[in-house]
Amino acid sequence: MRALLTNRDIFQHVKGNVARMLEIKLRHAKEIMDLLPEAIIEIFDIPGQQAIHWMNRRAQLLFGKALLNQHPDRLMGASAWGRLYRELGEREVIQNNLVTIRGKSFEFSGTLSHNINSRYIKLIAKDVTEHEEAKKILREEISEEIRLRRENEYLMMQQARMASMGETVGYIAHQWRQPLAQMGGILMNLESSYLFGELDKSYLTEKIEQGNALIKYMSRTIDDFRLFFQPNRESETFDVADSIQRAVQIVSASLNYYHIEVKRAFTRERFFAAGYPNEFSQAILNLINNARDALSQKPTYPKTISITVKELGSDTEILVCDDGGGIDPQLLSTLFEPYVTGRRESGGTGVGLYITRLIIEQKMKGKIEASNRADGACFRIFLPSVG
Ligand SMILES: Nc1ncnc2c1ncn2[C@@H]1O[C@H](COP(=O)(O)OP(=O)(O)OP(=O)(O)O)[C@@H](O)[C@H]1O
Ligand SMILES: [Mg+2]
Repeated sequence: MRALLTNRDIFQHVKGNVARMLEIKLRHAKEIMDLLPEAIIEIFDIPGQQAIHWMNRRAQLLFGKALLNQHPDRLMGASAWGRLYRELGEREVIQNNLVTIRGKSFEFSGTLSHNINSRYIKLIAKDVTEHEEAKKILREEISEEIRLRRENEYLMMQQARMASMGETVGYIAHQWRQPLAQMGGILMNLESSYLFGELDKSYLTEKIEQGNALIKYMSRTIDDFRLFFQPNRESETFDVADSIQRAVQIVSASLNYYHIEVKRAFTRERFFAAGYPNEFSQAILNLINNARDALSQKPTYPKTISITVKELGSDTEILVCDDGGGIDPQLLSTLFEPYVTGRRESGGTGVGLYITRLIIEQKMKGKIEASNRADGACFRIFLPSVG
C-alpha cells in the first residue's frame, strides 16, 4: 500500500524549485480567473502613475484588450477612478461601488496591497445593468402606485363629499318637514278665513309675518349646512366641544325622527385642540350617522347615543357610544379600511369611517379605535393637546 504524502515530503520535493512552483501556481490562478464570469482587472500603482497590467478574459471582452498598460481613467473616466482610488487609499478595500461604463452599470469591489515601492490593486467588476434596470423599473412602478393611491384617496374624498351632500339633502328634508307643514297650515288658515269672511288686514299681516319667519328659518338651515360642510383651509386652534355640538345640531332633526336621545357628558366647557374644526365635526358626524343607522334598526327603546369628552392629562379623549347592538365582529379588524360596510343593501359605501380615520389621524394627529361593549358600539378618539 502506498503511503500518503506528508507536508514534509512535499517540501522536500519542491525545495530549490520554489520559483518554478510559484510560476505554475500563478498560471493556475490566472486560468481560473479567466473562467470566472466577473471581470477582473489588476492595476499597478507606482507613485505618481497607475496602469492596468492584467485583465481576465471577461474583462478583455467587456472593456477591450486595448486598455492594457493604459491608465484606469481610460476604463471608467477620471471622476469614477478618482473616487475608487481615494477610497482604496483610505480603507484598502472597496465593496460594490456602482460605476457606469459605456451605458452599462458595474459594481466594483477590490483590494489594495503594498509591495516595497509600489502598490497593487485588484478590482472585480460585476455587470449589474439588468439588476439596475430592474431596480429602476421597480422604482417607477412604486411611484406610479403611490400616485394611483393618492388619486384614489382624492376620489374617495370626493365620493365622501357626494355622499355627505346626499345626506345633507336628507338632513334638510328632516329640518324642513316641520316648517313646511306649518306653512301649509298658514295657507289653509288664510283660505278658510277668507271663505268665512274673517280675513282682515291684521290677520293677513300676522299670517304673512309667520310665513316670513318660517322662510327665514328654512333658509338659515341651508346656510348652516353650507358652512358646516365647507372644508377649512388652515389648521387652527378650536374648541372640540363646540365642534361636537355643531355636528349634533346638524343631525338633530333626523335623530328626533328616530326618537334617539343624545346624552352629553363634558367634564369641562371647552377643550382646545389643533386642526380643522369643520373636518373634525364631519368626523364626529360620521360616527353619529353610523350610530343612528344602527339605532334606526333597533326595535326597542331606549335608543341612546352618549358623547363623553374628558381630559386625559393635557390631552383630550372623546367617546361616542351607542346602545344599537354593536358592530358586526367580523368587520372589527378592517373597520377603518375603505369600502368596508355592513350595510351594502341599504346603500352604505363604507367610506364614512375611512374618512373619519383620515381626519383624526392625518389632520388632527390623533388616534381612533372601535370596540363593542355590552349593548352597542363605542368609538374612542384621542387628540393630543395644543402646543
Ligand atoms: N355604531 C355602530 N354600530 C354598529 N355598526 C357600526 C357602527 N358604526 C359602524 N358600524 C359598521 O361599520 C360599517 C362601516 O361604517 P362606515 O361608516 O365606514 O360605512 P357605512 O356606514 O357602511 O357607509 P357610509 O360610507 O355611508 O358611511 C357599517 O356599515 C356598519 O356595519
Ligand atoms: Mg357610515
